[in-house]
Amino acid sequence: MTPNPREAIGRRKTELDTPCLLIDLDRLDENLQKMQGRVKAAGKALRPHAKTHKCSTLAKMQIANGAIGTCAAKIAEAEALVTAGISGVLLTGPVAGRTKADRLVALLERAPFLIAVVDDPAGIELLEARLAAAGRRLDVLLDLDVGQHRTGVPPARAAALAETILACPHLRLRGVQAYAGHLQHIPRYADRKLASREALRQAAAVFRELRERASSCDIFSGSGTGTARIDLAIPELTELQAGSYALMDAEYLAIESADGSEEADYTPALTLLTTVVSGPHGRQVTVDAGLKAIYRDGGKPRVIHPDYRRLQYEWFGDEYGRLVAPDRACLLPAPGTVLELIVSHCDPTVNLFDQFLVTRAERVIDVWPIDLRGRCQ
Ligand SMILES: Cc1ncc(COP(=O)(O)O)c(C=O)c1O
Repeated sequence: MTPNPREAIGRRKTELDTPCLLIDLDRLDENLQKMQGRVKAAGKALRPHAKTHKCSTLAKMQIANGAIGTCAAKIAEAEALVTAGISGVLLTGPVAGRTKADRLVALLERAPFLIAVVDDPAGIELLEARLAAAGRRLDVLLDLDVGQHRTGVPPARAAALAETILACPHLRLRGVQAYAGHLQHIPRYADRKLASREALRQAAAVFRELRERASSCDIFSGSGTGTARIDLAIPELTELQAGSYALMDAEYLAIESADGSEEADYTPALTLLTTVVSGPHGRQVTVDAGLKAIYRDGGKPRVIHPDYRRLQYEWFGDEYGRLVAPDRACLLPAPGTVLELIVSHCDPTVNLFDQFLVTRAERVIDVWPIDLRGRCQ
């Protein structure tokens, strides 16, 4: 029988079975307060993205810290957040097709103030028809493509799409969404700043026009961890959707946080414990965290241990990774050694686990289910 994860409470980190995901509560708290403080000082709101941590307990902590709600990437995530009792959910991905439209309309019964984004005239008509049939109304943001070419319409097509929305009696146009995902990890702060200013300048112009056109338009939502400090200076932006700042990962640690600064803005609260299971094999040892425990995307996982931090993690198949010594002076840990890693990319790595073990002062104090895990519909 699988052990009850709550049995880990009270144990030291080194006594835990691996691989497992840890959250350092003090670091998490510091990250949440830092972002919330900056957003508040700029007179804006924070609606953090839950796609990064997939955990309603953490989302509630963000709301307790002052966030106005939570973003969800998919309907299945939004459903889980609503089930957990969270309000102020913004669905940041457009719904397409009748199955999804019906699922969204059904969710409105439990979450009448949910906001969704739209980017396609046919999708808008379908949504309007399904809403009319159910006798429900929906608040929507017009999704703008500010260069990522993933979702949204180019700013030049926004006015026409806004007219389509405004002609639908069951839709209420609340404003715009503009997420510049392609800019978040630009390594140099100065380059990121230039690019994000330009992307959001276009979105701000659309938002100003829509505000003139419809008094219901009062939301301009966007931004991520990489551009948050930059975007706070955009006067029209009303709320930020940053997500990764809470847990952080190697990919975000690798970029400048401010002009010329090597220091990361937010500290890694999320780590992964792995055990050396075999070796040495020449200049490398084998650990029990591979593709099924650390997602192969984003930055290179980093070893935190002071004696072993020069070891290079490499994926070594489904179940294993290897830690490679760059030179002979670098010590190799013996089998049985438990090591802590900063993960490559938090979102897809979190999606590989059922729970976070929450630690303080090296001991597990709580277990939080990753209840949005696998909710990719
Ligand atoms: C639409 C949207 N908003 C916000 C975010 C959060 O960005 P980050 O995790 O970089 O803070 C994401 C992440 O991919 C996203 O897709």
